[in-house]
Amino acid sequence: MYSLTVSPVRAVRGDLEVPGDKSISHRYVMLSALAPGRSVIEHLSSGADVAASVACLRALGAELVFEDLDVLAVTGGPWRQAAAPLDVVNSGTTMRLLAGLLAAHPFRSTLTGDESIQRRPMQRVIDPLTAMGAGISSRDGRAPLVIHGRHTLTAVTWTPPVPSAQVKSAVLLAGLFASGVTTVVETAATRDHTEKALPLFGLACEVNGLCVRVPGGQRPAAGPVRLRVPGDPSSAAVWAAAAASVPGSHVVIRGVSLNPRRVGFLDVLRRLGAEVTTSLDSLEGGEPVGSINVRYRDCSDTRIEPEEVPGLIDELPVLAACAAAGRRLEVSGAQELRVKESDRITALVTGLRALGVASEEQPDGFLINGRIRASGGRADAVGDHRLVMAFAIVGLAAGGPTHIDSAQSVAVSYPTFEADLRRLAR
Ligand code: S3P
Repeated sequence: MYSLTVSPVRAVRGDLEVPGDKSISHRYVMLSALAPGRSVIEHLSSGADVAASVACLRALGAELVFEDLDVLAVTGGPWRQAAAPLDVVNSGTTMRLLAGLLAAHPFRSTLTGDESIQRRPMQRVIDPLTAMGAGISSRDGRAPLVIHGRHTLTAVTWTPPVPSAQVKSAVLLAGLFASGVTTVVETAATRDHTEKALPLFGLACEVNGLCVRVPGGQRPAAGPVRLRVPGDPSSAAVWAAAAASVPGSHVVIRGVSLNPRRVGFLDVLRRLGAEVTTSLDSLEGGEPVGSINVRYRDCSDTRIEPEEVPGLIDELPVLAACAAAGRRLEVSGAQELRVKESDRITALVTGLRALGVASEEQPDGFLINGRIRASGGRADAVGDHRLVMAFAIVGLAAGGPTHIDSAQSVAVSYPTFEADLRRLAR
């Protein structure tokens, strides 16, 4: 178990790029692995989650070769039955999106993963995929999932019971192979990277407000020869929150996806008192890409309302960390945090308290009162990458050193996190 130590800093300053977006990377590797011909994906997420998708796709017969640390050449084509269970390790996106695709492949596949993934709810993908005609057995709605795919699925109209881009994507990906038009009607807007990626591979997908439709009987065409993944806004959020936490700080994060369904955290940082601006530079694969510029200004209090939650679900831990530096923040309607890589409500509040931050757990959220400065101390990230980064931010503004246990998990989304932390800390 690796423990990370963070010392208080005078300021967080600098200019950086963050690794490629994890969600977009998963979608590009999966679609490239299905498409005939060779695609090259640049600036792929360097995290362990995407590496898990790459390994699973190799086991299904696609050829994926790294040309550089973050450049992947993919030669896709028809998939064949994997010789062994597919191990998604810690990656929920790999498990749920691949479940959708494997439901449409007429062979048996087993999807499994680590202890955390085996605790996470999978009934939410089992239900629609079963309604489409796949056979799926599980251990009480949890992994391992054994999928008996069908060559032709039946289209459905599905409303995910909780807003989830992973569930939406699993249904849409399966729907490509169904007979009829598959429709997902969301109750709240979630990230739309699947909808934006499908047309890059010649796949029709119609979006109308919260309603997304894919006609069945589609096969991916050869993708664009080169695809570039924009920087991950969830990783950018870490430095944005860090700059908003320590007086005198200023960071610029370049080349980041500014997809409106991912940058809800920017508005919360403004409400917490930071000076935040963005500039749009280009459109890559339908994704807006640009810079995020954050300066420490002052401290104010805010609430995050339930309707904001789907647009910043992964950023709640770092927003809590920012609030711990002098503000009051109340979050509600975020019960989904309890079924992420860890129970992020309990583990976040336990860790923050261990670092001397007044915080309270609620069934569907939490309350942070950062008026009294964090002392530092020792917090357990319980193998959850987002908590490692959140506790590190608290440590930057704390009164003494912060030790974060189980910090190796930061590699799930951001393996170069510690190097960037050392570079920006002044
Ligand atoms: C993701 C969707 C979200 C998010 C996860 C990545 C995706 O999960 O928390 O980190 O790539 O579609 P849910 O769909 O469970 O909300």
